[in-house]
Amino acid sequence: MVLWSLVLGLLLVVIVGYLFLPGLLRQRRPQEPPLDKGTVPWLGHALAFRKNMFEFLKRMQAKHGEVFTVLLGGQYFHFVMDPFSFGPILKDSRRKLDFVQYAQELVLKVFGYSPMQGDNNMVHSASTKYLMGDGLEELNEVMLDSLSLVMLRPKGQSLDAGCWYEDGLFHFCYNILFKAGYLSLFGYTKDKEQDLLQAEDLFTQFRKYDLLFPRFVYSLLGPREWLEVGRLQSFFHKMLSVKHTQEKDGLSNWVAYMLQSLREQGVTPAMQDKFNFMMLWASQGNTGPTSFWALLFLLKHPEAMRAVKEEATQVLGKVRLEAEQPFPFKLSALQHTPVLDSVMEETLRLRAAPTLIRAVCKDYILKMASGKEYLFRQGDMVALFPYLSVHMDPEIHPEPTAFKYNRFLNPNGSRKVDFYKAGKKIHHYTMPWGSGVSICPGRFLALSEMKLFILLMVTYFDLELVDPGTPVPPVDPQRWGFGTTQPSHDVHFRYRLQPAQ
Ligand code: HEM
Repeated sequence: MVLWSLVLGLLLVVIVGYLFLPGLLRQRRPQEPPLDKGTVPWLGHALAFRKNMFEFLKRMQAKHGEVFTVLLGGQYFHFVMDPFSFGPILKDSRRKLDFVQYAQELVLKVFGYSPMQGDNNMVHSASTKYLMGDGLEELNEVMLDSLSLVMLRPKGQSLDAGCWYEDGLFHFCYNILFKAGYLSLFGYTKDKEQDLLQAEDLFTQFRKYDLLFPRFVYSLLGPREWLEVGRLQSFFHKMLSVKHTQEKDGLSNWVAYMLQSLREQGVTPAMQDKFNFMMLWASQGNTGPTSFWALLFLLKHPEAMRAVKEEATQVLGKVRLEAEQPFPFKLSALQHTPVLDSVMEETLRLRAAPTLIRAVCKDYILKMASGKEYLFRQGDMVALFPYLSVHMDPEIHPEPTAFKYNRFLNPNGSRKVDFYKAGKKIHHYTMPWGSGVSICPGRFLALSEMKLFILLMVTYFDLELVDPGTPVPPVDPQRWGFGTTQPSHDVHFRYRLQPAQ
């Protein structure tokens, strides 16, 4: 008995020592950035970071400046806040910083998907082929049909033109973009009404997963929530199984190409199901929330709404909706909307807040734009949070928290790309899509579908906030760092389809 207690005691000391000692013992070495381990062994600043990453990093930046190292749950992260010094990290020709390793661990945990070597290149080449150029034009056609189906509803349950409907704007936008995006990428069956019902069910479950997502990533779920996450994962693996998708018409070339590549590499069907879940997440988790913020900003800024509507009339001409027909819409118009482009860029600047992470594979020296050099230790992580260091920098974007619909327009109406900090032109003046090897490969499709949705909403519908005085809700603080943020609560609005003339 005494012996067992001794052994157990010893084991405990070893475990605690293993977990906490590296944190307690680590000291800042010459050339390393300021080190802030917080007060809690091993956890470091994890609690403050997870509670509100934006506010935490703001404090750290004020305390330590352009580069600092923080301990977060046993892992050291070097945050680089100077946008002029991002280049070497994003390009890293010396292969000392790695995006894939971190991403692989994350997708295994979150989607159950165990990535193959070369997946990242495969996804990017599928996207270059099918989410850009001619491939994108084809997909835009499909997206227009899907949006028409979802927004106008199938025969028998069509919206009553002239009749007002009420909904939460966030729910409305997310629901429509999700269903149209899912059907366009994962295909239809012969029964469109059934497809819509299935897409609705998928959305309901997707939102449950979405709400648990930030705390799941940070391993903060309670036992019941863990069970729920497991149930939801199984649900998605089943609903998106390759067995089902193969039976569908019009599976997008994008998904078909990627599944074909996985099959050729001998990836099992069960693993392909998980891959589909990951792609559903990547393709549908941000477009709905971004469209919500864009429409809300337009509803709160009548001068911006007027400018977007005027532009829509110019590029689309006089449009007429006919009963039981898809929205008439010239897709080429999407190429000629500088005002709406500026609205989208401004919305993404204000509300898209991804974290870019790279693992340090070998000791790495970052040469800052100032000429100063910092050493990052092998095994640590390098992180960029451009929302704070770029999007909210008042030097780059004066009055950074204000929505200015024409911030990205030159006086002559063309797209503005010249932004400066300390008198120097800045290359990365917004980074909603990430950058470098991990840049979002769906960004062109994302912009097309969101713009299409907004143009349909402002052209064919009357829209108003139920309470015009309602303020723009704050960002849910748990969502910083995960792509487009979400509001802490929904905003009620009403809409009606304008009667066919
Ligand atoms: C507003 C909408 C969107 C935003 C703000 C967004 C943003 C991002 C960001 C920040 C990343 C990760 C960058 C990083 O880790 O460094 C990413 C990755 C990705 N996105 Fe998007 N995205 C959007 C829409 C889409 C759409 C519509 C698709 C596909 C149809 C898509 C497909 C992907 C994929 C596959 C990845 C992973 C790429 C990789 O592994 O390298 N995204 N996105």
